Amino acid sequence: MKTNLSFSRPAEVETECLVVVALDRGEKDKTQVSAESADEAVKSAAAGVVSTGEVSGKMFETTLIHNPAKLKAKRLLLLGGGKAKNFSAYELRRLAGAAVRSLKSKSIRSFAFVVPDDNLKAEGAVKAIVEGAFVGNFDPDTYKSDRKDQKIDGLTLVTRGEQGKLQQAAEEARIIGESQNFTRQLVNEPSNRMTPTVLAEQARKMAAEVGIKCEVYGADKIKELKMGAFWSVAQGSDEPPALIIMRYEAAGAPEKPVLGLVGKGITFDTGGISIKPADGMEKMKYDMAGGAAMIGTMRAIALLQPKVKVIGIVCATENMPSGKAQKPGDVQIAMSGKSIEIINTDAEGRLVLADGLYYARQLGCTHLIDAATLTGACVVALGYVNAGVFANDDKMYERFSRALDKAGEKMWRLPLDEEYKEVIRSNIADIVNSGGRWGGAVTAAMFLKEFAEDTPWLHLDIAGTAWMEENKPWIAKGPSGIGVRSLVEFAKDFASDGSRS
Ligand code: BES
Ligand code: MN
Ligand code: ZN
Repeated sequence: MKTNLSFSRPAEVETECLVVVALDRGEKDKTQVSAESADEAVKSAAAGVVSTGEVSGKMFETTLIHNPAKLKAKRLLLLGGGKAKNFSAYELRRLAGAAVRSLKSKSIRSFAFVVPDDNLKAEGAVKAIVEGAFVGNFDPDTYKSDRKDQKIDGLTLVTRGEQGKLQQAAEEARIIGESQNFTRQLVNEPSNRMTPTVLAEQARKMAAEVGIKCEVYGADKIKELKMGAFWSVAQGSDEPPALIIMRYEAAGAPEKPVLGLVGKGITFDTGGISIKPADGMEKMKYDMAGGAAMIGTMRAIALLQPKVKVIGIVCATENMPSGKAQKPGDVQIAMSGKSIEIINTDAEGRLVLADGLYYARQLGCTHLIDAATLTGACVVALGYVNAGVFANDDKMYERFSRALDKAGEKMWRLPLDEEYKEVIRSNIADIVNSGGRWGGAVTAAMFLKEFAEDTPWLHLDIAGTAWMEENKPWIAKGPSGIGVRSLVEFAKDFASDGSRS
């Protein structure tokens, strides 16, 4: 999708469809097209339908007007944006996605979006619209033989302001949106086509394209590094595992800090010997969404060039039952030297991450973030709306929280009190890999904390948010690409004041 800016008056823009946000402004002045677009011509083109009362401004409401009077646009789409006083970049991002999804289904290939200036600066608004439009333009229909390939290929932003800055905002948003979609493409692939080897190849190809280093290690190196926890999962599969290491170093970046991004890359999670029920097991192809998020994030970082060092690590393997698979009761020695009693072979994500986190620290990472579809318990706690976030460092959490706001992603902090550690004590080893049912998202995070130790660390449990269970106005059902935007915003902020934490 190509994006460009137009500084013309909305009425003068020649386009298949002019999209204007309509906000609910309360009792007196009911619905109105947004302030920026309160261009008299647009207002009067909309006046007829607005006067009927059928435009309420409700979020995602669409009203399409053909041949709008005195506009050069062929169509005018009034897009409800909710209550004016609550309107923010968060809503705007979703509205842009909704505009794309609604128009592409009508075989429209290009449109113009009038950038609203309600409560928003033009740069922030442009960024939100472009990101949202890329998200809305993605469809997970790769394998449908009657695929229609309906995509928007041209988006014009009708705006006012400083051209240079707005262009930069649009360019940044394009990089972020495309990187999020790259992650979604990886997550969408079924496990027979997205093995650890294929995931590693994809990371390698991406790295070559954007000019960062990428190394891939196989079973021998994993064993040589004494990654006993990672290997304990990989040993049961006929597919070779892959330890993927991507390095980004900006020219002139300080030696420290070094941000480590560690992703869970289970390309299929059967549960292993503690096998999962058949019902819904097909979904476990997305158990590599954390790893894919890190690969997409590294892509965006490489293209945006923040002045900082970042290392991305993905521990990729299948979790299979077989004659070689680990069994409940087995004891494994992690790379850090900690011994782990395996209670449940389905708690495999924390095992691969334990070694991934420890290895990141060995490579010199001073700050760590991991992302993983780690627990069903996190889905029970937070549903499909918020991802879980855990932190052993309040400052780092606060900075991440700002990144979440900028990115428009929702995550909710969950606790890590020492008391939770009791349930992961083992009788015969240092620690067990499953603390049982209660507080499962927390006890999984407590397990990881043992391997992050005193390095400032965040853990993102994206089990409930990495896959959209249904179509939404702004995003297709399927892989969401959660995490990418926030991680990129965090890295950008980290580059500007990373050494202060
Ligand atoms: N990959 C799953 C978690 C998951 C569940 C992701 C639902 C996405 C949707 C993870 O490996 C797992 O199986 N976790 C177990 C842990 C338990 C055995 C302690 C779980 O959540 O049931
Ligand atoms: Mn599992
Ligand atoms: Zn898993």
